[in-house]
Amino acid sequence: MSALAGVAAAPGHLAVDVGPLTDFAVGEGRAVVVAGRQVAVFRHADDRLSALDAVCPHAGGPLADGQVDDRVVVCPLHLAVWELRTGRSCSGQEDVAAHAAEVVDGRVLVRLGG
Ligand code: FES
Repeated sequence: MSALAGVAAAPGHLAVDVGPLTDFAVGEGRAVVVAGRQVAVFRHADDRLSALDAVCPHAGGPLADGQVDDRVVVCPLHLAVWELRTGRSCSGQEDVAAHAAEVVDGRVLVRLGG
């Protein structure tokens, strides 16, 4: 099974295995570390994944703990909003980096792409 996040990975970045898909709850985010960088991985109802930098650029809130739907995540601290596919801010904050995430043989792979 493969569920690409739709983000082109930067050349030279290898996919990092961050655990089994079963560790990622549907409709929620989970913070993982990829090459020393905190990344929030979100699992959608159709098992598609999205991945963004995990630290909110406003004041360091944990984006993996934010409310999420198919399109956006809302920071739990001050409710700023980012587009999951691109990392673009929908609320006037700084953008966050979006990363590529996919499922291969039941494992979640993330490639830094921002
Ligand atoms: S810390 Fe995320 S919106 Fe303020």
